[in-house]
Amino acid sequence: MYKVHCLNNIAKVGTDALGAGFSLTDSIDEAEAIMVRSASLHGTEFSDRLLTIGRAGAGVNNIPLERCAAQGIVVFNTPGANANGVKEMVIAGMLLAARDIVGGIEWVDENSDDPNVGRQAEKAKKDFAGTELAGKNLGVIGLGAIGAMVANAGRSLGMHVYGYDPYLSVKYAWSLDRHVRHINNIGEIWSSCDYITIHVPATAKTKGMIGRDEIAAMRDGTVLLNYARDSLVDERALAEALQEGHIARYMTDFANSVTTSMAHATVTPHLGASTKEAEDNCAVMAAGEIRDYLENGNITNSVNYGAVDMGPLESAMRLAVFHLNVTNMIGQITGAISAAGVNIENMTDKSAGNYAYCLLDLGSEVDEELVERLAAIDGIYRVRAIRR
Ligand code: MLT
Repeated sequence: MYKVHCLNNIAKVGTDALGAGFSLTDSIDEAEAIMVRSASLHGTEFSDRLLTIGRAGAGVNNIPLERCAAQGIVVFNTPGANANGVKEMVIAGMLLAARDIVGGIEWVDENSDDPNVGRQAEKAKKDFAGTELAGKNLGVIGLGAIGAMVANAGRSLGMHVYGYDPYLSVKYAWSLDRHVRHINNIGEIWSSCDYITIHVPATAKTKGMIGRDEIAAMRDGTVLLNYARDSLVDERALAEALQEGHIARYMTDFANSVTTSMAHATVTPHLGASTKEAEDNCAVMAAGEIRDYLENGNITNSVNYGAVDMGPLESAMRLAVFHLNVTNMIGQITGAISAAGVNIENMTDKSAGNYAYCLLDLGSEVDEELVERLAAIDGIYRVRAIRR
């Protein structure tokens, strides 16, 4: 029985999807798996029991990926599972920026006791008028699961959409409306777009990618939307551009000491993926990834190990060997198994950076002694025996 510790609220439909071989535990130290949303794990020491972390969501900046990889802890995320929820939030952001809907609602609240509120409203409404999205230029930076959906939604709203993604995958390229203009020079987004929305992961490389120069290059009156991560934008430079009126509005899902005191910013408390559907989808997907990894050794959607899929475990047993990505590791692994007289029926080895993962289907059961012998080989840092 595998034990799973949930940080944050993980939808029950997800924990149920783990299945009969799993139970939940309140103790992180006795868990083989952690399920997490946004809670930070950077300060957490992981016990040797921990085998995997499932992030029910896309962003993994709350998880120490390199440290996990070095410990043989496979980290999964759930790309696309909450994309529709975030897409809808971005559309709401554009609509809220285009017209002063919030101001209008507040006006009605303030005047709700006035018996002539209906007549007064007809006079007041000019103060909350705005523009339409149709015909405006929308720039989408990052055309992954969320960005591609936002780009297509922009097309459905009658916008001219410019998409920028130097790492565009075939899968998402196929999903894009053919009228989305895929551009190679990000400068075209700054100079051409009325609305700019960013959908890239928060990494050391993307930190501050919308900086002072990029903001200066944007059109006067641009609306910038950030439902990805606050670290992507130099928010101090942006605060000045908002104050000066160069940027019309910042729609952001990240409340922090800078955004909450910005002029012309609409800040929400990280609500992008907070829909029942998105939470359910993420939890179910993360549970499936954890289960397939723990029961079969397969790795799908990991952010610190390569993909490995040998299907369900049907051989006598499987060995999962984590080793450094250096010469002669596979030779030593297969040599030790063959020397024990065990046939290797099938194997896959996948490297990711400094680390690698080798999954082997064996023709007969091996004893603990062989597992320990493998684990003692220099460069091997974790061995899992997976039995049916
Ligand atoms: C994500 O990274 O998937 C979203 O920001 C939503 C979340 O963190 O739950």
